[in-house]
Amino acid sequence: MTEQTALRDQVLENEWHPVCAAAELLDKPLSVTILGERVAVYRTRKGVHAVRDLCVHRGAMLSKGWVENDRLVCPYHGWQYDESGRCVCIPAQGKDDRIPARAKAEKYHCQEKYGIVWVCIGEPRAELPSFEEFENPEYRPIVCGPYYVNAAGTRVIENFTDFAHLMYVHGGLLGHPDYSELPDFEVFKEEERVYTGDVPIFQPVAHSGSEHKEGTVYVYMKEVFRPLAARLSKRDRETGQTLWIMLTVLPVNEKECIVYMPVSRNYGFDVPDSQFKAFQDTVFEQDKWIIETQKPELLPLDLQAELNHKADLLSVAYRRWIAKMGVRIGTA
Ligand code: FES
Ligand SMILES: [Fe+2]
Repeated sequence: MTEQTALRDQVLENEWHPVCAAAELLDKPLSVTILGERVAVYRTRKGVHAVRDLCVHRGAMLSKGWVENDRLVCPYHGWQYDESGRCVCIPAQGKDDRIPARAKAEKYHCQEKYGIVWVCIGEPRAELPSFEEFENPEYRPIVCGPYYVNAAGTRVIENFTDFAHLMYVHGGLLGHPDYSELPDFEVFKEEERVYTGDVPIFQPVAHSGSEHKEGTVYVYMKEVFRPLAARLSKRDRETGQTLWIMLTVLPVNEKECIVYMPVSRNYGFDVPDSQFKAFQDTVFEQDKWIIETQKPELLPLDLQAELNHKADLLSVAYRRWIAKMGVRIGTA
């Protein structure tokens, strides 16, 4: 990987970003990159933790070390950092020698939720968005991803808000070109989110675990609730079977991101989770394929720069919302 420098964005650095699936973070620390900043995440008996991935002594990567007695150990000279980030042991000095006050790892906010480890490298401006269906016992949750995308996170979120591509990019799967006409739909704008009313869309094949054998009309609702986090529900009106997908993006740098998708369903409990995951993998692969072709790579916030259509109402609301918020990385 080429050397990166941290990117400044007063909005995104104060957001929670998904850094790995909780199940991936076991006894070994992991290295992740958030807005160009290298971060080490690790797990102790007390939970998950994140620090700047740089030992204050000689700049080695702490993520290459290990966890011992709930301390993060630097692999270079064995300095040990406790959960507050303080260095509590320097093996090269005597036990009674004083440890310099500056010997600290820079701590970041870190938490585990919705099957994902989240990190904020600044001061969290808001709680994690609520995704209650992931924790509701009537639903069955899984985590899809990571999906690596060579594009700005903002482009990925905007694609998620888009309805008119379902019949083309996902033709035969989530829609069909013969049923491309979209009904008029409403978009609501609030201080902390933008979202649609119901949008019915014909899908040529029923989704996994559905009671239907043939094509079905599913009712969508899409919502963007953080600059880089959105969700949708897809409901079968007749049966009430509902699939919820949260899409959340880690901005690695301006033009590279990693997507995680907590997904939850209230049906098809007998269908293997691997089948649902494989379906999401296929769908996301199709999205990635088109997103990586888009120019300009940075999402234009000037609404004159691209041609907006009435089908793009939610996307336009998203652009206005993040422009007002002052998101800089991934926008132009
Ligand atoms: S560089 Fe980390 S202990 Fe020396
Ligand atoms: Fe898509």
